[in-house]
Amino acid sequence: MSEAVLRVEALEAGYGGFPVLHGVDLEVTAGEIVAVVGPNGAGKSTLLKTIFRLLPTAGGTVSFEGADLRRHPAHSLAELGMGYVPQENNTFPDLSVRDNLSVALRGSSPVEIRRRVGEVAESYPALRDRMGQNASTLSGGERQMLALASAMITGPRFLALDEPTTGLAPSIVRERIDDILRIRDSGTTLMWVIEESPLVCLPHCDRVYVMQAGVLGEPLSSQEVLQDAALQSLFFGVDHNTGDG
Ligand SMILES: Nc1ncnc2c1ncn2[C@@H]1O[C@H](COP(=O)(O)OP(=O)(O)O)[C@@H](O)[C@H]1O
Ligand SMILES: [Mg+2]
Repeated sequence: MSEAVLRVEALEAGYGGFPVLHGVDLEVTAGEIVAVVGPNGAGKSTLLKTIFRLLPTAGGTVSFEGADLRRHPAHSLAELGMGYVPQENNTFPDLSVRDNLSVALRGSSPVEIRRRVGEVAESYPALRDRMGQNASTLSGGERQMLALASAMITGPRFLALDEPTTGLAPSIVRERIDDILRIRDSGTTLMWVIEESPLVCLPHCDRVYVMQAGVLGEPLSSQEVLQDAALQSLFFGVDHNTGDG
């Protein structure tokens, strides 16, 4: 049995006394892609914000590679080896692509920044051709690519993605999935929050947690989730009774 990279136990959190997470347990093991799927408002983004120390915990613990994150403020997590692409505001629209990538490396020497930005440009050729462009001029898919590259540039061993494919055209969804699989193959463990396109995204995930009203179920295989008619109609709007057309 491989070790847990991320362990969340009995986690409770919310907004100004309004509880959202009701005792969440979750584990991500080295090398896995673990999905969290559920309807809008279920608490998926709240879970990631709480893991990444942007919201205070009302109870429970989060540990990364055995270290209790209560001792680590949000801004120190990249140095610890954790990367996070939030659902919203995940790029700086008024900065160039190059500066978006460089900001993630603040504190490094100019030589090191140039080297790392050059490496990322090799992995994401579409960004290489747009280094001087403001992020606001990128397409939705390119912006998600930049957000992903900005998180990867610090070399995280664990990366959490909040709906990286939502709102994208199907062919672009495929491109972002390919990026995610490449990241996994390079040795980074992933937690992937999915709301749209579960039929396309879930088959790439090793285990799936279904979230509903701030509660996580036991982890399932993607096949178990995709073949469960109740889950399909509940979360994905797929109604088998009308599927005879
Ligand atoms: N900044 C906020 N202030 C107050 N309530 C919030 C805030 N963000 C989210 N919520 C509430 O928390 C619940 C979970 O939201 P969220 O975690 O964004 O769900 P999901 O990401 O699964 O769509 C919802 O009821 C939402 O209205
Ligand atoms: Mg969300």
